[in-house]
Amino acid sequence: MDDLRIKRAPRIEAEITVSGDKSISHRAVLIASLANGPCVLRGFSRSADCMNTVVAMRALGITIEQPEPGTLIVHGKRRKLTAPKDLIDCGNSGTTMRLLAGILAGQSFTSRLVGDGSLSRRPMGRIIDPLRLMGAHITAEGKEDTAPLKITGSPLRGIKYTLPVASAQLKSALLFAGLFAQGKTTVEEPVPTRNHTELMFDYFLVRTQRDNGRISVFGDLVPESRDFSIPGDLSSAAFWLVAAAAQPGGHLLVRQVGLNETRTAILGVLVRMGAQVREAIDDIDQVEPRGTLEVTGAPLKATVIQGKEIPQLIDELPILAVAGALASGTTIIRHAQELRVKETDRIAAIAHNLRSMGAQVVELDDGLEIHGRAPLHGARLSSFGDHRIAMAFAVAGMFAEGETVIQDVGCVATSYPGFEKMLNEFANPKGFRTATPVISSLAHPRHGE
Ligand code: S3P
Repeated sequence: MDDLRIKRAPRIEAEITVSGDKSISHRAVLIASLANGPCVLRGFSRSADCMNTVVAMRALGITIEQPEPGTLIVHGKRRKLTAPKDLIDCGNSGTTMRLLAGILAGQSFTSRLVGDGSLSRRPMGRIIDPLRLMGAHITAEGKEDTAPLKITGSPLRGIKYTLPVASAQLKSALLFAGLFAQGKTTVEEPVPTRNHTELMFDYFLVRTQRDNGRISVFGDLVPESRDFSIPGDLSSAAFWLVAAAAQPGGHLLVRQVGLNETRTAILGVLVRMGAQVREAIDDIDQVEPRGTLEVTGAPLKATVIQGKEIPQLIDELPILAVAGALASGTTIIRHAQELRVKETDRIAAIAHNLRSMGAQVVELDDGLEIHGRAPLHGARLSSFGDHRIAMAFAVAGMFAEGETVIQDVGCVATSYPGFEKMLNEFANPKGFRTATPVISSLAHPRHGE
């Protein structure tokens, strides 16, 4: 297994882009596969997770061409999928397994979804219970409602369902199932989560109703084939945003990055911690807003991250915990028990790795208390097989005295195959394009200083 070695990095002064948003890419290929003709998807994520969704849709009879990296031509077949010849391997991708389960529940054939060791430990009861209420026949073949999932397609009926956990994957599984259900399916989310599925349905002319936390979709609609361009992944950019924010005088521009408001809570947190963050949306009419982010670093101070903010930055919590360790004061993360059932138990993994680097951390049932500004020292750390743990601690290594080694970093490809290359550029910034133009056109930055 590969090790990644990191040394303290020079001050960041750079302008970058990141590959396509992972959440949006999954949804784009799923809905395009159900559409009434070919759809060209540009800016598609190069992550292993999204490739799992592509391979799965091919196994279900959809032709998907890749004329160049980042571009897919998906030949939608008017919702007609065919029985897979073999089991469908979702790899490490919870999004693939959960969203696909929603689609497969309404087909006329049986399929089996499997995943790697990590995905096979993740809770699937949360999708199985409501899908069964819709009439689905799903069996979890693992212990305690875990994968493999055996799904025997059956006629579905629309239901009204209130999400017991704030999960966009669960919401989306039910909305996709709703496309194949009779009547109207309504999902109520007490706390808003990322809304990419709803936006994408609207864009592909599958009518949704949205009102006060309730999202409804109607069965029998065929998505209209359309081309779509996917913005950069803010969750990948987050690693560099924090790296720049925590360096007084650090300066980073990220171009063409997704700025959907259900994903940008991290920017507000960085502002609270003392960094200067500005965003300029390029084209407000895009279904998924995108634009430029500018971060100027400062000595960070502690903050509290909790409540409704949590689902909107759930994937950024590992790197925000690192920011907490670099900030003065005690940073508290609460109401984040979902972190325990991600690719690994992220609360335990963060606490373990931060302590190994010399930080004082208290593990809470639903979060962390991080006593900041300990001088971090290099250490030999585990990735726990979790891409975001690997990347968060690679960034921690940029601030540590001595060498940090992250073991088993192959998992980084799960979401961000270009991460290591970018890290090297930050370590040896000679070839970098420097961030010349500061965003000056910003009349009303959403997250101003
Ligand atoms: C995702 C939703 C989140 C997130 C995951 C991607 C999505 O999971 O952690 O990386 O694309 O819908 P939950 O919705 O289960 O919290």
